[in-house]
Amino acid sequence: MRIPMIAGNWKMNTTVSEATELINEIGPGLEEVEGIEKVICPPFVSLCAAGDLVQESTIKLGAQNVFYEEKGAYTGEVSAPMLAELVEYVIIGHSERRQYFHETNEIVNKKVKAAKKAGLKPILCVGETLKEREAGQTKEVVTGQVKESLAGVEKLNGLVIAYEPVWAIGTGKAATGKQANETIGLIRSAISQLYGKDIAQKTRILYGGSVTPANVVEFMKEPEIDGALVGGASLKAIDFLSICTQTASLGK
Ligand code: 13P
Repeated sequence: MRIPMIAGNWKMNTTVSEATELINEIGPGLEEVEGIEKVICPPFVSLCAAGDLVQESTIKLGAQNVFYEEKGAYTGEVSAPMLAELVEYVIIGHSERRQYFHETNEIVNKKVKAAKKAGLKPILCVGETLKEREAGQTKEVVTGQVKESLAGVEKLNGLVIAYEPVWAIGTGKAATGKQANETIGLIRSAISQLYGKDIAQKTRILYGGSVTPANVVEFMKEPEIDGALVGGASLKAIDFLSICTQTASLGK
């Protein structure tokens, strides 16, 4: 019912020529992986070149951020209509943006609405910090982020959610499959409350945080987990290919 998705978030890595090289490295192998959706999210400046390279392929593109205004005097920002010519997906509300660029749920909500209006599919990121987890606030924080980020959003229409516990991002300390499955189940319940059971069953919810070829199966075996948002390992062609191949071979 839910097609698994593996999305690579390249973060602030790769120049245009390095991005081109990486796509050329992963392209042929990825093309052979069937039954899952394969998405790469290079930096803005590489999206045009990436678009040319994946044009004839099954690899889809995503951006890593978007501004909520359509156009105007917002020096340095990139709007949803601009991205809509280049990508299908856009990551919104990543914890690094929340942490370093002070994005609140309110801002994330505006970005989700702007992206949807332009026809983009958001990959909405949520996740608790270690302090919040240790204080027993995981459910409250994560479902709160989901609800506030989706306030006033009438239809999800292909929106994807990524559960990324902050303590697991770039630390090598991934959550366990069980931990991720449990929290993703809570997120699905929140979606069910907001949009009904049917939509909740159709909505893909990914896990992100130190996903590697060595642990991806542990996550993908869990019933609530529909894929992965991969950071570091998406920059190594051999690792990203392995993550995609292993996910596809589970035939979920
Ligand atoms: P890592 O896979 O490097 O932990 O990053 C996860 C992430 O933030 C993906 O968006």
